[in-house]
Amino acid sequence: MGQRSYAKRIGVTGGAGFIGSNLLLHLVPRYPDYLFVNIDCLTYAGNLMNLESIESKDNYCFEKIDIRQFETLLECFDRHDLTGVIHLAAESHVDRSITGPSAFVSTNINGTFNLLELARGRMDRGFRFHHVSTDEVYGSLGETGYFTEQSPYRPNSPYSASKAAGDHLVRAYHETYGLDVVTTNCSNNYGPYQFPEKLIPLMIRNARAGLKLPVYGDGRNVRDWLHVQDHCEAIDLVFHEGSKGGSYNIGGHNEITNLELVQRICAILTDRLGTEPLDRLITFVEDRPGHDRRYAIDASYIQRELGWKPRYTFADGLAQTVQWYLDHTNWMERCVSGDYSKYYDRMYADRREMT
Ligand code: NAD
Ligand code: TYD
Repeated sequence: MGQRSYAKRIGVTGGAGFIGSNLLLHLVPRYPDYLFVNIDCLTYAGNLMNLESIESKDNYCFEKIDIRQFETLLECFDRHDLTGVIHLAAESHVDRSITGPSAFVSTNINGTFNLLELARGRMDRGFRFHHVSTDEVYGSLGETGYFTEQSPYRPNSPYSASKAAGDHLVRAYHETYGLDVVTTNCSNNYGPYQFPEKLIPLMIRNARAGLKLPVYGDGRNVRDWLHVQDHCEAIDLVFHEGSKGGSYNIGGHNEITNLELVQRICAILTDRLGTEPLDRLITFVEDRPGHDRRYAIDASYIQRELGWKPRYTFADGLAQTVQWYLDHTNWMERCVSGDYSKYYDRMYADRREMT
């Protein structure tokens, strides 16, 4: 049929989101002999502007599909004859899961189920299913200790419960049907292209605009931060070399309280912008219900088995990230105004009319 043949044909769900965009920017140039099909329905968190630099590559294409729609997904899997999927599409913001859990259940559980069913129908082609999950499935730690791959699941928010349900389905499809699956459970990511409702970009935007910096509760909740590029390299490695049925915890050993993190962001911004100290804007606000106290990952298994370790130090990664948002204020403001959603209509709807 004159179609190019590819060594692998991989669906990347949620490829227009924060981690998905960074992942496609990493994978598409790195594997010119693979086809990458970005499957994303473009919720408020999906932003195709992030992918402008790879949009015209031969080994990349975009499909605007909701993973909750089985028939549309099936047609896409068949048309591209997919040989694997890296599944990132999800509702991902804990605060939204508290005010509106329904989409979390339908996308993170039913959507994952649809993808697993399609993968099950392709087992004869050596189909690999990579589920990108979170450390939040393990619940909350006390002052000491780390999450390992053996930690019990104790999710506390509708978001983490829906991700845990997805993990369980993935595990069950391996145990019951022998599907080739891998799961990665990663700690909090930071870096370019994160939607400015999440802690780090939100604080940068507010501080720059002289707005309050809302720290939940006493600000002593601890998160373990990993640069998104380190996460993407780990996903690449696990997708290619992870053992069938394996789960891998990924984290950067960068534990810091929310208050200290916001203070560090303020210090970098104060220095770069030459303003009065910006930490005066820090405001303690009502705590998030069910707010997990501490997350910390033991990443020794992936390091031992696959040789992965993060490249970024937190100091360098944070400074570079703050600078990225300062250099991309236009990107940030288009996220907040909703203007970015018009990009799809301009680029894809017009293109469809022309064919
Ligand atoms: P994000 O919210 O930035 O992006 C999610 C993407 O999924 C968006 O492009 C959105 O349009 C798409 N999407 C949502 N519902 C969909 C549906 N029904 N059909 C098709 N596409 C849909 O999320 P993120 O921060 O990039 O996270 C990606 C994945 O990584 C998620 O599964 C999340 O649970 C996991 N994860 C995130 C972090 C983190 O710190 N951000 C850490 C560990 C794991
Ligand atoms: P977030 O970026 O929402 O990630 P997650 O809830 O998945 O860890 O939040 C990171 C931490 O920052 C979390 O402990 C909640 C806290 N937080 C604030 O204190 N203020 C805020 O405005 C936001 C968005 C988060």
